[in-house]
Amino acid sequence: MDKKLIKDFPYEYEIVDPEKNEDLVNYFCTPKDEYVTIGPKKYFLLKGYLSGAARIYNFPLSSEDTFVITYPKSGTTLTQELVWLLGNNLDYEKAESININERFPFLEISAMLNIDEFPLTADLKKELKKSLIPVTLEQIEEMPSPRFIKSHLPLSLLPPSLLDTTKVVYIARDPRDVAVSYYKFQQFLNIVPPEKEFKQYWKFFMSNQIMWTPYFEHVLEAWEQRKHPNMLFLFYEDMLKDLTGAVRRVADFYGKTLSDDQVNDLARHLDFDTFKKNKSVNMEDLKKTGIYSSDGAFIRKGKAGGWRNYFDEEMSAQADEWIAKHLSDTDFRLPHC
Ligand code: A3P
Repeated sequence: MDKKLIKDFPYEYEIVDPEKNEDLVNYFCTPKDEYVTIGPKKYFLLKGYLSGAARIYNFPLSSEDTFVITYPKSGTTLTQELVWLLGNNLDYEKAESININERFPFLEISAMLNIDEFPLTADLKKELKKSLIPVTLEQIEEMPSPRFIKSHLPLSLLPPSLLDTTKVVYIARDPRDVAVSYYKFQQFLNIVPPEKEFKQYWKFFMSNQIMWTPYFEHVLEAWEQRKHPNMLFLFYEDMLKDLTGAVRRVADFYGKTLSDDQVNDLARHLDFDTFKKNKSVNMEDLKKTGIYSSDGAFIRKGKAGGWRNYFDEEMSAQADEWIAKHLSDTDFRLPHC
C-alpha cells in the first residue's frame, strides 16, 4: 500500500487496505475506505482526520491553554469539567448553562466528522453541529485565552511544543474497561449494531483497529512525559477511589488553593450520580438528533473493573498476555481495582 505525505506534517499515512478490511467494515457498517493509519506507530483514525492533521500539528499555542488528553472513554469528560471549573473560578452557573463541547471543544472532531455527509435532515444536521461540534478547528484557533481544549490524539500528533508551552492533563484507564466502555458507547451511537459481539470488538481493539489505537502507544507517549512540569498524569481509577484527592491534585497542578468546602462542593458536582443528571455534560440533548439510540447513556456506569462481566476465560488470558507484552519494557503499570 502506498505511503503518502501531507504538506507541513511529518508523518506518512496509509489508507487502510479495503480488501484486508472486510471484518472491520462488516462489523461497523462503515465505508470501505474510511480508515487511515498515521506514522510509524500506525495510529488508526478516520480519513477525515487527514484534512486537519497539519493544522492540528501546527496549531498555534498560548501559555494559557490547557489540554485534556486521553485515549477515548478514559474519563475525559469528568476531567474536563474539573479542569474547566478550576480555571473559571468555580463558576457552576456558567458551567451548567454552556455545553461542555462549547466550553471545552474537541480539537480534531470537526476535521474527522463531516456532518454534512450524514444521512440526516438539514435541521438535524444543524442540531447535531450545535451540540456535538459547536466549535470547529478554525474557531478553536480564534477562541480567547484561556482556551480549554480536549483531544484524543497521542502527543506525537499534537504540536511538538505542546508540553513546553501549555498545561496538559492526561488520564489513563484500564484498557479492558476502556474497550467495554467504547463498545457500549459505539452501540449507543448506532455505529456498532446491537447484535455485534464484544468478543470481536476486543480483537479489533488489541489489533489496533479501533479509532485512536494503538492504546499502549498512546498511553506510553504520555507516561514518558509524566515528570514534565506541565504534565499531570492521572488514572481514572484513582479519581473514582478518591475524588476529593483528585480535585486537590489538579488544583495543585494549576497552583490553586481551595478551601475544604470548595473541594467537597466540586467533588459533589463531579460525583457520578450528579454528573449523569447534568445537562451540560451528559450529552442527552444529542438524543433528539437521532445520532444516539434511545436507550443507553453517555454517562453510563462509572465503575472500575466492569470488564470482568464481558470477558470470558479465553479473552482474559489473551488480555493478560497482551498487557504483559506491552508492559515488559516500561515501568507503567495498570491501576489495581
Ligand atoms: P463507562 O462507560 O465505563 O461508564 P469519556 O468521558 O472519556 O468518554 O469517558 C466516559 C467514561 O467515563 C464512561 O465510563 C462514563 O460513564 C464515565 N464517567 C463519566 N462521568 C463520570 C463521573 N462523573 N464519574 C465517574 N465516571 C464517569
